[in-house]
Amino acid sequence: NFSLFFFLFVLFCVCRYPLGMSGGQILDEDISASSQWSESTAARYGRLDFEEGDGAWCPEITVEPDNLKEFLQIDLRSLHFITLVGTQGRHAGGIGNEFAQMYKIKYSRDGSRWISWKNRQGKQVIEGNRNAYDIVLKDLDPPIIARFVRFMPVTDHSMNVCMRVELYGCEWLDGLVSYNAPAGEQMNSPSYPIYLNDSVYDGAVIYSMTEGLGQLTDGVCGLDDFTHSHVWPGYDYVGWNNESFPSGYVEIMFEFDRTRNFTTMKVHCNNMFSQHVKAFRQVVCYFRSDLDWEASPLSFSPVVDEKNPSARFVTVNLANHMASAIKCHFYFADAWMLFSEITFQSDTAMYNTTLAPPKTGPPNIQPDDPTHKVDDSNTRILIGCLVAIIFILVAIIVIILWRQVWQKMLEKASRRMLDDELTASLSIQSETFTYNHNPNQSGTTSEQESNSTYERIFPLGPDYQEPSRLICKLPEFAQSSEDPVQDGVPHYAEADIVNLQGVTGSNTYAIPAVTMDLLSGKDVAVEEFPRKLLTFKEKLGEGQFGEVHLCEAEGMQEFMNKEFLFDIAEDLPVLVAVKMLRSDANKNARNDFLKEIKIMSRLKDPNIIRLLAVCIYSDPLCMITEYMENGDLNQFLSRHEPEGQLAQLSNAPTVSFNNLCYMATQIASGMKYLSSLNFVHRDLATRNCLVGKKYTIKIADFGMSRNLYSGDYYRIQGRAVLPIRWMSWESILLGKFTTASDMWAFGVTLWEILNYCKEQPYSQLTDEQVIENTGEFFRDQKRQIYLPQPVLCPDSLYKVMLCCWRRNTKERPSFQEIHQALLEIQP
Ligand SMILES: *[C@@H]1O[C@H](CO)[C@@H](O)[C@H](O)[C@H]1NC(C)=O
Ligand SMILES: *[C@@H]1O[C@H](CO)[C@@H](O)[C@H](O)[C@H]1NC(C)=O
Ligand SMILES: *[C@@H]1O[C@H](CO)[C@@H](O)[C@H](O)[C@H]1NC(C)=O
Ligand SMILES: *[C@@H]1O[C@H](CO)[C@@H](O)[C@H](O)[C@H]1NC(C)=O
Repeated sequence: NFSLFFFLFVLFCVCRYPLGMSGGQILDEDISASSQWSESTAARYGRLDFEEGDGAWCPEITVEPDNLKEFLQIDLRSLHFITLVGTQGRHAGGIGNEFAQMYKIKYSRDGSRWISWKNRQGKQVIEGNRNAYDIVLKDLDPPIIARFVRFMPVTDHSMNVCMRVELYGCEWLDGLVSYNAPAGEQMNSPSYPIYLNDSVYDGAVIYSMTEGLGQLTDGVCGLDDFTHSHVWPGYDYVGWNNESFPSGYVEIMFEFDRTRNFTTMKVHCNNMFSQHVKAFRQVVCYFRSDLDWEASPLSFSPVVDEKNPSARFVTVNLANHMASAIKCHFYFADAWMLFSEITFQSDTAMYNTTLAPPKTGPPNIQPDDPTHKVDDSNTRILIGCLVAIIFILVAIIVIILWRQVWQKMLEKASRRMLDDELTASLSIQSETFTYNHNPNQSGTTSEQESNSTYERIFPLGPDYQEPSRLICKLPEFAQSSEDPVQDGVPHYAEADIVNLQGVTGSNTYAIPAVTMDLLSGKDVAVEEFPRKLLTFKEKLGEGQFGEVHLCEAEGMQEFMNKEFLFDIAEDLPVLVAVKMLRSDANKNARNDFLKEIKIMSRLKDPNIIRLLAVCIYSDPLCMITEYMENGDLNQFLSRHEPEGQLAQLSNAPTVSFNNLCYMATQIASGMKYLSSLNFVHRDLATRNCLVGKKYTIKIADFGMSRNLYSGDYYRIQGRAVLPIRWMSWESILLGKFTTASDMWAFGVTLWEILNYCKEQPYSQLTDEQVIENTGEFFRDQKRQIYLPQPVLCPDSLYKVMLCCWRRNTKERPSFQEIHQALLEIQP
């Protein structure tokens, strides 16, 4: 039954869609109310999260504690399975302050018989809102199967009440409308009575149950021992004693919304034979399609099991009988018969019903709703779901607790490491960090500034991670800089990495002499581009002070010198990347942006993205750079497969090993150029390399928060800032970014390439573990984990990668050497 359980679990978890109050799929005409205060607080304004009209539905008169006749009614046009409700008061931009502290729910399947919802303890009143604006969601347990739902505000004193509501669930495609059965009985066991009645049955119960649904369809299976239950002994079961049924059977009749083609019925039975409870001995089912009962019933006798006392599903094959109602006689095998769930599997999709087809309502479910795919060929009942959910919740709680403990341990470990080892082994003086730099600022101001720097960072992608508290911890230690020129180098994309060596600091740019020469004297050698010729296409990225957009530029050809060698037709728009500074950026950020333009304008290398033009006459300031037709290397490679049989079979586009090497070589070449100018890129990765025709590569930098690379929002650990999986240990722990740390990132980039970007580096490690691993690199006690050798990667190339990840920065190769090595490896 695993697949059934799984299906039910998915259905239960998935079946929580807003049914269209806020989304508008429920039409105004289907929302009605007992009364309205005014036209602008009519029922149609009772939509959750809507601010139209006067901001909510409000009944005409104040709601009195003892007079509950006001209601807001929603017609869903067809039966729905409703698992959750949401309510909200009237806020109306601060003018309104009415809300329902409590409410009840009534529902109806046919529009005439109304049933009050009760929870499993029999309580009808649901706690509502505590203020006029927050949305309060309440799970409905048991869930409701209904077409009409009424919300009835309840108060403990006379007050004005307004409501906005939403229903969550999914369409009830399976169509069991009611079951009728003899009322469940009471078992007088020696110690205490066991109530085997159907305590959530919503039909009429006098001598028998009619016209309702209840425990047999509530999605909860009973336990093996029926005397155990979370409510009272026997709660989950409905049971009958043979003494009350001289005929020897219990008759249950099931009614459906229309004629269906039935495949099976599954009955969940208790089998505690020690207590004289057994599954049924035989079942005889009669089918009614149209108005007549079929003459020949179907009979089935399961094996009577006196060995295994566990509760079980007994599956009855209904042999594709067509019916709109089924009546089954369940014969006693012992003194008692106890059922907790009954489900039917029917196949309606293929059947052209002779009865009137059910009214199809408005599209209550979004087109991509997965519940549409799980049609009613399976079951309508959610047996085991709750059990599965509880199980999963427990698992989640365990994981969360475990994670917290683990995180504490990590934090402690890293703090210990920093405190003990770093202070001991490094002599320290302040250099790199933004905060605490500025001698003119008091400690507190700079502290605040640094905090806000972190806070203003956008929530970023999984490739970037704020290295927990480590970095914050670090400024207390200053650091020794063996190589002042290297430490003070400008990085390639200053605007993006501001948080570490930020634009707000006083000594951000200690530009080395070589570069200074390059920059001094001459004007910026790029031209102003008319902004109106840019057409926005999509957002590529976002940094602290700016954004990167992909645009089409008209007439860009004039701005390109011959050396750009674009082979594009005249007058066609060219794809360009436009990096722009937010107009609210501060002065320092502007200055840095202009400096970046200067720096960028000097970079001329076939493997580095070119600055084409700028817009600096007016705000927002823009830099227009090349963009390449095949997008970034990460996406490019993940679309491709290695050459081989597998790719041939699947017909996937391929990239040969030689071409991989060719691309890696170009990256090395571009980096060789950057490093020759003492530029540090700080974010080298496949996502920052662009692919053009014939596998040409250009290195770019789009900043840190491209939506594409932010799949994983739900990390507990807050904002992501740094690409820790690409960063060298000294960048993470000491904040040092040098050509040698670029070399480390190059090694990781090479690893990505050889894996066709199908896997994130250290994908099996959490962010905390990656940082912990960094500590192992620092300690160097052979416990550090290296990225594994990719399947396609020859030993010689893996050796090159390992060289990039040497602990000692001086032992890492230079880009010159790497470039040479790659040229030699390339066959
Ligand atoms: C079921 O039995 C319990 C215990 O006697 C009783 O409180 C409850 O009202 C009964 N429920 C129904 C629906 O008869
Ligand atoms: C019921 O469904 C089965 C299997 O889908 C099909 O073979 C059979 O013809 C259907 N019966 C009727 C009466 O349509
Ligand atoms: C009920 O079941 C018990 C145990 O099987 C049996 O002894 C008894 O005769 C049955 N009573 C009736 C009325 O069938
Ligand atoms: C199915 O029903 C539709 C409308 O009720 C009818 O036009 C059509 O002929 C039916 N198809 C079959 C195969 O009976």
